[in-house]
Amino acid sequence: MTLRRIAQLGEPVLRQRARELTLEELRSERTQRLIEDMIETMRDADGAGLAAPQVYESVQLVVLEVRDNPRYPGVAPIPLTVLANPVVTPDVASPLDALAEADSFSVYEGCLSVPGIRGRVRRPRRVRVTALDPTGATIAELWEGFRAAVIQHETDHLLGMLFVDRADPRSLTFLREYERHVPPESRVRDGAASTRS
Ligand code: NI
Repeated sequence: MTLRRIAQLGEPVLRQRARELTLEELRSERTQRLIEDMIETMRDADGAGLAAPQVYESVQLVVLEVRDNPRYPGVAPIPLTVLANPVVTPDVASPLDALAEADSFSVYEGCLSVPGIRGRVRRPRRVRVTALDPTGATIAELWEGFRAAVIQHETDHLLGMLFVDRADPRSLTFLREYERHVPPESRVRDGAASTRS
């Protein structure tokens, strides 16, 4: 396994639409090696996820995992997941352009390609995920909460989008100021939980 260099904000590859992988490509040694490298690179950088364009490979491949992550303390763990050609569709009652509080999940997102900055992004709290696993088998699942936010962040990368495109611009903060001024209880907000309590 090899640690890959992470593309930083401004690299054109981060703004391109990644292409789909064929089954044959997905199962190839080259892609399987890329997957191993992405997992190692994500873990080394304490990422919650990583998309292939972030390591200069413009293909539809993402990895995610959260276990006691110092960059995201207190969030629910996410098992190691590798997805090729993921399609993520919101599964909430309210329309996306008028998302109800109960249907939303917001978190101060960060990104290994945009280091040192966080910003609040509000997203649908539940999504349907269809994709291929590394062997080429089809996955179709409903994800919610932090995991749903992370997969939306990662699939945005495959479309050439970054969290700064979606963040409330007035919430943008450097990491030091985030630690100082954003209280832990407002860093992650699950609309479903807040409307229940
Ligand atoms: Ni990112």
